[in-house]
Amino acid sequence: FLCPNTKWQGTPIDELNRLPQCAPPLSHLKSAPHHTVTVRTDLLREGEVPVPYPTKFKDAWDDLSVKMPCSEKNLFPMETEPIPLLKSRMNQSLTLSQEQIACLLANAFFCTFPRRNSRKSEYGNYPEINFYRLFEGPSPRKIEKLKTLLCYFRRVTQTTPKGLVTFTRQTLNNPPDWESSQTQLTRLHITCEGTIEEHGYGMLQVDFANRFVGGGVTGHGLVQEEIRFLINPELIISRLFTEALEYNECLIITGAEQYSKYSGYAESYKWVGIHKDETPRDDWQRRCTEIVAIDALKYRHFLEQFLPEKMTRELNKAYCGFHRNNANRKHLSAVATGNWGCGAFGGDTRLKALIQFMAAAEAGRDVAYFTFGDAQLMKDVHEMHAFLTESRVTVGQLYDLLNQYFNEVCKNCHTTRPDVSLYRFIYETVSSPAASDTLNTAKDSG
Ligand code: AR6
Repeated sequence: FLCPNTKWQGTPIDELNRLPQCAPPLSHLKSAPHHTVTVRTDLLREGEVPVPYPTKFKDAWDDLSVKMPCSEKNLFPMETEPIPLLKSRMNQSLTLSQEQIACLLANAFFCTFPRRNSRKSEYGNYPEINFYRLFEGPSPRKIEKLKTLLCYFRRVTQTTPKGLVTFTRQTLNNPPDWESSQTQLTRLHITCEGTIEEHGYGMLQVDFANRFVGGGVTGHGLVQEEIRFLINPELIISRLFTEALEYNECLIITGAEQYSKYSGYAESYKWVGIHKDETPRDDWQRRCTEIVAIDALKYRHFLEQFLPEKMTRELNKAYCGFHRNNANRKHLSAVATGNWGCGAFGGDTRLKALIQFMAAAEAGRDVAYFTFGDAQLMKDVHEMHAFLTESRVTVGQLYDLLNQYFNEVCKNCHTTRPDVSLYRFIYETVSSPAASDTLNTAKDSG
C-alpha cells in the first residue's frame, strides 16, 4: 500500500514492548486443573519433538471432551489423543504439540471428526472443524485456500515441527468501571503501512474474530481472521474445542507458526509460497507469537454503534483480550491492532480506535495501530490521540465524552449519519470554556 509522504506517526515502533524481550521468565510447564498439557513436560527439550502424554489413548465419549475419531464409540476409529472442550465461561488452557495439531488437522481435512458434520448436532455452538465445505463449489478462493493448507501439510510431513501451542479461553468477570477510570492513555505508534502479523511480531496481535473462532476459514470467508488462520493453520484447531465466545470472553493462542506467505485480500487473495518462521521460542517451546481472538459486534446501521451499551460491550471485549491477571505492565507487550470490527462487521474506525485505546490503557499496554493503507485515518487518529494525551483526558472522561456524543448528537438524529462527527464533537467539547466543568463532572461522578 502506497502512502504519499508520512508512513507512520506517534511513538517509534521500536520503543514499544515486544516478546520475548519484555516477558518475565515462565514457570515450569505442568498440567493443572485449569491447564491440560498433552505432552511429557519432563521430557520437553529444545529441538526435539515433544513426547505425547498419555501415551495410551484414554477414551472419553462425554460432554466435556472432544469426541475423537479414534474412539471405539466412533464407527470409524483412528489413532489420536483426547482433548477437553473449552466451553463457555471456563477459564481454561490447553497445550498441544505442533505434531499433535498436525495430526488433528489431517483428521479435519479428511472430515473424520464425529458428530461434526451437521449444524444441528450437539456441537451446534462450536465452529465447523471438518473441511468438507472447502471441497465444494468452483470458487477460486477455495483453490487458494487449499494451496495454503496443502503447503502446511507438506511442510509438517517433511519436517515434524518441534514446539507446543497453548490455547487459553479467558472470561472477564469483573469489567472495569469505565466511568470512573482515572487512567491516562498509553503510547501509540500508528502506520498506514504493513500488517499486524508482519510488523507486529512479538506483540499481542489482534484477530478480528467471529464468535465462532476462525469465522469462515473452512468455508467462503477470506478476510483478516480467515487469512491469519490459513497462513498459521495451527489456529484452525481451536475450532475443534472452542465453544462460541460470549460477550465477555476471548481466546488467546500462543505459539502458532506461520507456514505460508500470501498476497491480496478477499477476492484477490493468493497463496504466494512457503514462509520460514524464525520467531524465537519460549521455555515451553512455543513460538513467541501471541494472538488474541476478539469478536466485535456486527452493525447494520451506522448509528447503532454509539449506543452506550454497545460501546461498553466493545470496551469490555477488547479489555478481556488485552488484560492479563497479575501482570506487571512493564512485562506486557504492546497490542498490535487496526480496524477491528470495521470491515465485514461495519464499525466506524474512528470510534473503534478510541475504544481500543481505552481498553489498552486500562490493561496497561501501548498500541501499534495498522490502518491498512488508510493515510487519512492514520493522520486523524494520531491527531486525536495526541490531543487527548496533551489535554490529559482520562479513560473515564473519554467514556463520558462518548456517551455525551450519543446523547447530544446520535440519539435524536434522523439521518443515517450524524451531522457532527465524533472527533469534531470531542475537539469542540474538550476545548470549550465549559470543558473543565464537564470533564470534572465526569471525574467526580465516578
Ligand atoms: N493487518 C492489519 N489490518 C488488516 C489486516 C491485516 N493483516 N487485514 C485486514 N485489515 P475484517 P471485522 C483491516 O473485515 O470487520 C471475518 O469473517 C482492513 O482495513 O476482517 O472485525 C471474521 O471471521 C479490514 O477492512 O474484520 C468475522 O466474521 C479491517 O481490518 C468478521 O470477518 C477489518 O477486517 C470480522 O469482521
